[in-house]
Amino acid sequence: MISTGTNIKINKIANSRIGEIDPANIQFGKNYSDHMLIAYYENGAWKEPEIVPFTNLNFSPATTFFHYGQAIFEGVKAYKNPQGEPIIFRPHDNWKRMNRSANRMAMPDVPEELFVGGMKTLISLDRDWVPQGDDTSLYIRPFLLAIDEFIGVRPAEKFMFMIITSPAGPYYNHPVSIYVQDQYVRAFPGGIGFTKAAGNYGMSMYPTQEIKKMGYDQILWTDGFDHKYVQEIGTMNVFFVIGDTVITPDLNADTILAGVTRDSVLTLLREKGVKVEERALSIDEIAVAHKNGQLKEAFGTGTAASIAPICALTYHDTKMELPPLEQWEHTNWLKKTLADIRYGKVADRHHWTEKA
Ligand code: COI
Repeated sequence: MISTGTNIKINKIANSRIGEIDPANIQFGKNYSDHMLIAYYENGAWKEPEIVPFTNLNFSPATTFFHYGQAIFEGVKAYKNPQGEPIIFRPHDNWKRMNRSANRMAMPDVPEELFVGGMKTLISLDRDWVPQGDDTSLYIRPFLLAIDEFIGVRPAEKFMFMIITSPAGPYYNHPVSIYVQDQYVRAFPGGIGFTKAAGNYGMSMYPTQEIKKMGYDQILWTDGFDHKYVQEIGTMNVFFVIGDTVITPDLNADTILAGVTRDSVLTLLREKGVKVEERALSIDEIAVAHKNGQLKEAFGTGTAASIAPICALTYHDTKMELPPLEQWEHTNWLKKTLADIRYGKVADRHHWTEKA
């Protein structure tokens, strides 16, 4: 073990596994980098973090998160700039969001130095795992688990924070086909829809499996009262271009995740002078716009998928096809503009990227 200036003990792997990766064929979530960060919280305080070789974990079968899902996570990405240096996109925003999730789930705040500083140390160590090339990145997965060995239902007292990283290619390699969901519900006001709680993703498995069998890629979630107002698609925020206006659901009801990519897209569009609205948007308004030829573009945003164009939406028996992708002004511009910033190809006026 050696100690770093940031008080992270590092136990380096003897032989890197990097040779297992085929750089020409990197798939999302299949391979994990050499090291992982791990820190424990006990008696009201965080203990010194460690970076150790990536390995399996050992838990009592009575551990809280297995039973009650007191577990949250984040998704961040690092990219290689033209100089070959790893740069991380907006890690402080993910840190803030992690703590909003933690508060709602009765979990302790993760200190900024542990989340961002730990991530930087880990990525510096595993810098060779950050792929270089269009549409590639290192996906960074910080997560926080409740680890009391107790099956009574109460907020845990012991927690474990970890960061693992995984070289990633594109999440979707085609425009996505969407089914408008009006049976199952993702989020209610007062619930946990705004958090990255594990349960939000677990609950989506069955409805998503059902629509995949029907030939769709993802669900457009609607509100739980009337199934009228759109919320998110799959695990992404959603945007519609109607006429000359870009519209996305607002965050007021706590049902929608405050996406970092969502915020980046809104910022870039507003700076460009594009008309942007964050407001309640009904599926009926979308259907009318489609009928009148005003539904110009639609896309999902998220860290994993970045910007995912939607090729069609099916609502009951109606399939709404979007115009050919080449004609999409805003989505294509956003994809390129965001990629240029993330890969460090243009000046980063917003200070969104940070060297590892
Ligand atoms: C992300 O975009 O980071 C997500 O959370 C999606 C993930 C569940 C794959």
